[in-house]
Amino acid sequence: MMSHLDELFELLCFPSISTDRRHAGDVAACADWLVAKCRSIGLSAEKHATPGHPVVVAKSAPKPDRPTVLIYGHYDVQPVDPVAEWRTPPFEPTLIDGRIWCRGATDNKGQHYAHLSGVADTLAADGELPVNVIFLLEGEEEIGSLNLTPFLEANAADLKADICAVSDTGMLAPGIPTLTYGLRGISCLEFTVRGPSLDLHSGVYGGAVANPALIAARLAASLHDESGRVRIAGFYDAVEPLEAWEREMWARLPDGEAATMAETGVPALWGESGYSALERRWARPTAEVNGIGGGYQGEGSKTVIPREAMVKLSFRLVPRQDPDEILELAAAHLRKHCPESCVIEIEPGHTGPAYVMDPHSPYGEAAQAALRATFHDEPRLIREGGSIPIIQSLKEVLGVDSLLLGLALPDCQIHAPNENFTVENFEAGIRLNRALLAEIARRG
Ligand code: BES
Ligand code: ZN
Repeated sequence: MMSHLDELFELLCFPSISTDRRHAGDVAACADWLVAKCRSIGLSAEKHATPGHPVVVAKSAPKPDRPTVLIYGHYDVQPVDPVAEWRTPPFEPTLIDGRIWCRGATDNKGQHYAHLSGVADTLAADGELPVNVIFLLEGEEEIGSLNLTPFLEANAADLKADICAVSDTGMLAPGIPTLTYGLRGISCLEFTVRGPSLDLHSGVYGGAVANPALIAARLAASLHDESGRVRIAGFYDAVEPLEAWEREMWARLPDGEAATMAETGVPALWGESGYSALERRWARPTAEVNGIGGGYQGEGSKTVIPREAMVKLSFRLVPRQDPDEILELAAAHLRKHCPESCVIEIEPGHTGPAYVMDPHSPYGEAAQAALRATFHDEPRLIREGGSIPIIQSLKEVLGVDSLLLGLALPDCQIHAPNENFTVENFEAGIRLNRALLAEIARRG
């Protein structure tokens, strides 16, 4: 019989890169594999087409008197470039030093497969689950979950649940049980600055025409003031101050400044003054440049004024900031600061709101109890800076809160070359699933 680890290796082999149209067939094949796997362990499962990549829904045989747990995960992955930096081929899962090296190992295949494995074990051992389970596995999380909210709206009755469990977040450190009770939201946009109608000789015209690359850089630099605050008018209007209890709780965690330095390798930290590194990463809004381009990128020099330059921005948001409104404020800021000597074109991208829940709610306590039982230590309560856009929609459309019980470690290298997941955490994820379903049944 195949072990859960062997099965996970099969799942990891699909290059299910959602952002790349050439991989649409691989994304669909991955969904088919999940449907077959869910059916083989005794769940009813269907692949649902959307205007984008498919959604997989799998259910245990419903028992009317038991609470229903929705388990959300995503089987799409990020692109693998720069591919030369990988020590093992990105879609050939390889076991080295107790870690599974593969794109998607942590984000998110290994993590939702631990839930599926836990359910499979319980069904095999007991013939039933202590709760009703619905798996909701999507193929578009890494591109903003654009089609999932309409899917939730259209299938709300079918997805009705009491609580949602999601393992797509991180742990503070190996063996430290971590409950994430908040995520930042996100708004993306891209802008292009255009000047001359063709690339120009920078000696012949330089000094008399604006350089779009320089203007793009100035616009990017205009996003922050000297103290690291975002300079967009209205950006902080809806932002509420951090709660005193959160600041105190996080101040008691191991040194966040040192951890951030060690994990990232930066020579010094940077950011909004008045807040600790963890506060800035988890609970303060930001503006980032994710990509910038224009002009000559090859070897040596080329004396050119490029006709255009491009910048990709994203903003991380906190509760009550409206992602679409932030895009409007950002666009107004960029238009206002773009000089007459250039023309700016702004393309809004995907958005998703922030999320926060009460870690001391009855289900929050169930999650903490499950973490305690799995790791034999008191759970740490944190918020995280990453985004899972659908989590707030689950709240708004289905009325369910999400227990964020992720097992990513700080050195899992999600989204980067050499993504990896420890076998230890894969196995902990299986135990965590069993503990969580039992705790929810006990309280439900
Ligand atoms: N798993 C991450 C989100 C995450 C990472 C949460 C670390 C907490 C800690 C997820 O797959 C992700 O990468 N989300 C994207 C969403 C975006 C593309 C809409 C993100 O945060 O950039
Ligand atoms: Zn991700």
